[in-house]
This record gives sequence, structure tokens and C-alpha cells, in this order.
Amino acid sequence: MEMFLPAARAQPERLHSAPDVSVIIPTFNERENVGKLVSHLIATLHGLNWEVIFVDDDSADRTVEVLRDIGHYEPRIRCIRRVGRRGLAGACIEGILSAQGEIVAVMDADLQHDHRLLPDLVAAIRDGNDLAIATRYSSPRQETALSPFRSAMSRIGTYLAQRLITARTTDPMSGFFATRRDLVEAMAPRLSNGGFKILFDILSNAEPDVRIAELPYRFATRSAGHSKMDRRVALQFLGLLFTKATRGLVSLRLVSFFLIGAAGLGLHMALLILVLVAGVNFAAAQAIATLITMVVNFSGNNLLTYHDQQLRGRSFFRGLLVYVAICGIGAVVNVGIATALFTVAGPWWVAGLAGAFVSGLWNYLVTQTLVWNR
Ligand code: GDD
Ligand code: MN
Repeated sequence: MEMFLPAARAQPERLHSAPDVSVIIPTFNERENVGKLVSHLIATLHGLNWEVIFVDDDSADRTVEVLRDIGHYEPRIRCIRRVGRRGLAGACIEGILSAQGEIVAVMDADLQHDHRLLPDLVAAIRDGNDLAIATRYSSPRQETALSPFRSAMSRIGTYLAQRLITARTTDPMSGFFATRRDLVEAMAPRLSNGGFKILFDILSNAEPDVRIAELPYRFATRSAGHSKMDRRVALQFLGLLFTKATRGLVSLRLVSFFLIGAAGLGLHMALLILVLVAGVNFAAAQAIATLITMVVNFSGNNLLTYHDQQLRGRSFFRGLLVYVAICGIGAVVNVGIATALFTVAGPWWVAGLAGAFVSGLWNYLVTQTLVWNR
């Protein structure tokens, strides 16, 4: 092996030239659509030096198998298979970061995006634009293939999103656009992986003077299969808006963690009364109520706050132990701060709230890195 390496290095000659345009396509259960899409793409991209990267989140319908077969015939098409992770935005980012082309385009696999627009999107980047966005809303009354409800939600979302970013575009939530790879690479550590809104996230991280070209098209109806846009995705988007609106200070996770904490307080008091009534002494009753509340809070956070990185099986129990230890320290901090404030003559409720708030923040920040840290 070693003998061959230097020889190989001595021949810098390339067998084929590296692509300069990479098309990134996230897939989740698109087995029925990818074949047709690929044949369209091969025709449309003719004349460009291209590659296509599918990023599949381990689809149950085994989209990957179809893509592998395609890759046998057409090596410019490959597939990244991610296991144990979900998310349109994260899949796109991973695809972009592994691309060869200096120009990257992102599009859906379900034939809702008009592939014939790709050469124009690429040309717009070559002309010096940072972003070329295929827009569904170039005119206010443009018809789309969305249901009336989805259409209304999409327009409200578009309106909110436009208020939060300085960059001007009619469709900040388009899933169909092209850009320069280096632009995304530079902001990659700040992009969020969950949810659908990859373009919105790129726009809000871009420089204010980012150059944008818009290309109108008609959003078609889905070819086969169904949309993965659901309440969870919508919630993730709201979370992203919320985080942006508070300049990253308050995230939806933090709010969720504190709401569960507040509900836990109610549960704790109810349990305490129950156990006391059952005749257990106060110290033991308080300990029992605390432990049960911690287990319930942990499960609640695991289910809701960290829905996207849920711990299961053995890691659930390991996580629970670490969580209890961290919140134990939190409780000591809580009592310490409250007592100190109370002694310095704050009103009892201010002292109590301050203690609870600081310990809540401690619990949130430390469990975020030590319990749910994937
Ligand atoms: N890898 C991966 N992981 N791909 C995903 C995931 C995921 O978790 N969820 C969805 N996809 C893929 C789908 O397979 C499809 O190719 C593409 O992402 C878009 O998903 P759809 O489920 O078809 O989304 P949509 O049509 O409802 O939403 C479209 O419009 C939105 C704006 O209203 C998309 O273009 C979105 O990008 C866009 O934000
Ligand atoms: Mn779709």
C-alpha cells in the first residue's frame, strides 16, 4: 500500500474535473419521487459541471436503496445516510458542508420545485449574487398549490420572518435556492439543525448588505408521498422566530424548561400534602415529593423540551441520575440565595422567587450540556 501512495501523489492529473455546482436534496420517505427527479435533473443540469447529493434521514421506505442503485449508473449522484437524526435544515447543512461545488443549490425531492429553474439560480450566483431564491410570492396574489390553511400559515410566517430579518425577500421560507458554499460554511456553527427554515436561518445570519436575486416559479403539488410539515415543525419555526426576536437570549427550550419547572412546583405541593396526610413525617414527605417531582420533570423535559434528542433505554436512566444530582445542587443554591436575600431583609416572596429563578437557570444550563448533550 505504502509503495503506491507516493506514486499516486506524483500524478496530480485528475481523472475527471471536480464539480462546480452541487445540488443538495434532503429526503425523508421519497422512494417514489427520486427516480423521476433524477431523470429531470440529468436533463436540466446538462451543460453544467455538477454533482447531486441526497441527504436521507434513514427513511423507512428505504429511499437510500433506490439512490444507491442510481449512483451505480450515475456516479455524480450520491447519498449521505444519517441515522438517529431528523431534520430538514440539518440535512441541508450537512449536504452543503460535504459538497465539492463552490455553488450549492438546495431543493425538495417531491417535484414541487421546478427543476428548470436550476440553471438560472446558478447563473444568478455567477453574476455576483450571494443568494438566488426561487420565490413563490413574487406578486402578492400569486397562486400556490398549498391548501388554504397552509397557505394562510405560510403567509403569516412569511410576514413574521420578514419583520425579523434585514435582508429583503418575498419568500424568506423558500426551500429552493442557491448560494455560495463558503457563505454557509462561515455561518455553519450558528445555524440550527431542527425544523424546516434553513433559508430563513441563513438570511438572518447573513450580512445586512447580502445580495439577493429572486426568481419566480409556481410551487407545484406534491408528486407522491406526503408532506412532513407538521405541528412540531411549525413549533420549531416559532421557536426560531422567538429566539431571533429576543436576540438569542431566550430560546423556546428555556421557556419550555421553566414552564415544566413551574408545573413541577404545583405537583410538588400536591404530593407533599398527600404524603403528609398519609401520616409521614415532614422531612420524609418533602424528600418523597422532591424525588417524584424530579423524575416527572425529567421525563417531561425529555419528552417536550428535548424532543429532538430524547434519551431512551439505558441513557434515560443515566440521564435521570445526572439530572437529579444537578438539580440537587440547584436546590442547595436555591435555598442559599433565598436565605441570604431574606436575611438582608428582602420580602419573603422576592427572596423565594429569586432563589427559584437562579436555581432554575442553573438546572437549565447545566442539564443542557451534561444530560442532553448530543
Ligand atoms: N433528510 C430529511 N430529514 N429530509 C426531510 C425531512 C427530514 O427530517 N423532512 C422533510 N424532508 C425532505 C422531504 O423529503 C422533501 O424532499 C423536502 O425535505 C421538503 O419536505 P416536505 O415535507 O415536502 O415539505 P413541504 O412541501 O411541506 O414544505 C416546503 O415548503 C416550505 C415552505 O412552506 C419545503 O420546500 C420547505 O423547505 C419550505 O420551507
Ligand atoms: Mn413538499
